[in-house]
Amino acid sequence: MCGIVGYIGENDANSILINGLRKLEYRGYDSCGLATISNGELQISKTLNRIESLTAAIQNNGVSHIGIGHTRWATHGGVCERNAHPHTDSYKKFIVVHNGIIENYLSLKKMLKEKGYTFYSDTDTEVVPNLIDLYYNGNLLETVKKVTSIIEGSFAFGILCKDRPNELIATKRNSPLIVGIGNNENFIASDFSAILKYTNKICILENDDIAILNEKEVKVYDKNLDPKQVTIKEIDADDSDSEKNGYDHFMLKEINENTITVKKTIDYYVIDGKINFDLNLTDNDIKNIKQIKIIACGTAMHAGLNGKNIIEKLTRIPVSVEVASEFRYSDPILTENDLAIFISQSGETADTIACLELVKKKGIKHVSIVNVKDSTIDRLSENVLYTKAGTEIAVASTKAYIAQVMLIDLFAIYLADKLESYNKEELSKILNYAIELPNKMQEVLEMDSMFCDYAKSISNCRDVFFLGRGLDYYIALEGSLKLKEISYIHSEGTQFGELKHGPIALMEEGTPAIVMATQEKLLDKTISNIKEIKARGARVLAVTTLKEFPVDIVDEVIHLPKVCELFSPLEAIIPLQLIAYHVTVNKGLDVDKPRNLAKSVTVE
Ligand code: F6R
Repeated sequence: MCGIVGYIGENDANSILINGLRKLEYRGYDSCGLATISNGELQISKTLNRIESLTAAIQNNGVSHIGIGHTRWATHGGVCERNAHPHTDSYKKFIVVHNGIIENYLSLKKMLKEKGYTFYSDTDTEVVPNLIDLYYNGNLLETVKKVTSIIEGSFAFGILCKDRPNELIATKRNSPLIVGIGNNENFIASDFSAILKYTNKICILENDDIAILNEKEVKVYDKNLDPKQVTIKEIDADDSDSEKNGYDHFMLKEINENTITVKKTIDYYVIDGKINFDLNLTDNDIKNIKQIKIIACGTAMHAGLNGKNIIEKLTRIPVSVEVASEFRYSDPILTENDLAIFISQSGETADTIACLELVKKKGIKHVSIVNVKDSTIDRLSENVLYTKAGTEIAVASTKAYIAQVMLIDLFAIYLADKLESYNKEELSKILNYAIELPNKMQEVLEMDSMFCDYAKSISNCRDVFFLGRGLDYYIALEGSLKLKEISYIHSEGTQFGELKHGPIALMEEGTPAIVMATQEKLLDKTISNIKEIKARGARVLAVTTLKEFPVDIVDEVIHLPKVCELFSPLEAIIPLQLIAYHVTVNKGLDVDKPRNLAKSVTVE
């Protein structure tokens, strides 16, 4: 989704903003732009192309010491240059970049038009610089407060005034924004990766804070304009995480980090054969849990489905998996003995945050599984477990999914241990199987040439089916999402048994069907289902961990090493991630930045 970077300081803003925008690319965008002030002149450049073409556009810009940049993911108004940010008021005095949505912009636009303001874009954002101009009384801080008090919705703003080249303003409500503190230079950013090259000292703005930055200092005010202490945090992250390290694409690099991700997660949480979670949940709280709700979006929700399978198996506590965008408006039935689990890589997904707020309001105990430390979900949650995936850059989530699955698996074992709901010896065997997983996963990664060959055979297909029963269905769902989101091939993840109740109508001669078979007790049923689709001409690839799988009933087989069935998603997803990757490369598409998608979905 949209990204913001802003700079004020002794160095040249142009190159720092371009670098920051490059680091924000991974969030997904359809246009970008930046504004600088140089010798009293305002310079604005925008493009519908990639950041590289902005670099060319600003080549003749003079040196500047202040500027704001933006990557836009269209919400209000189509993808065109005039809708790209930054936006100015009609008189080109105030300049704004914006993440979020201004819900009452139509009435504000009408009012501004009546007062003689002219609009050049279809965006909601353009009302903001015009409102600033309307209410400007010589004090920018007061004016920004006035403007943010009348706008409704979510926002993070970077604001410049052409006549005040020594001041950069930032404010936010329900959309992340941080201030970065350097030496003789300060920054703003929607995401710390944009400024990590220059500083790891950040101050996280809270809702309705207004920050004023100059080259030497940062001042932060609350919504009553009372000064606040600037609390500085040092980010423990490495800029090299955002390099490809010799891989052609971030997605390929990140898939190859699946193994180390699982290892890191286990090493971090399993000490001397015991799972250590630092949670504000007493043994009694755990004993009283009557039902668990796992709430998330997209791939994180698929990790949640895997969580349902293992938690129910090991604890017999009923688990439901809820899509956050539905759950928040569903008037959910929650009782005091429920446990809510939120899963989010970014920790910034708007719908998941809204559900977390709802659950908190009802006083329900909750645990969040988050990859990005200091993200909104991290800060709002009473209990947080961190996935150890490191920074994930490719829009399609791979290693973060693996980390979420591993962590929720550990959480299930942890609950079962506390509840004594599962044979103790069996439980410690299961934990030992988890420890063996990275080696097995590595073997799968080394089978890549097989996945690459298979990918060639489906690269020009119109539809691909991903099929499975039980846990295999959850793997199929995630495999299908991976393929469609980056290769734009239509795919369906379907419960194998459900196929004949409708979707089988789409099976034609040669339709590719990828069948997951990792669950021994469902093998016979899976075989019958394979026969049904073979009879309709499907070209079947089976991905299986089962030695007894009858290879002659399908067209192709990928045999994976046997692992404990509860953990099969951790290795069986790897071929599907790599198949999606190779198909996309074969089609010449942008693997890391698929169209229309964003890494961090900060609007609902
Ligand atoms: C797909 C993908 C998305 C995210 C979803 C939730 O590859 O990455 O489906 O999983 O947008 O994002 P987070 O985990 O950041 O809440």
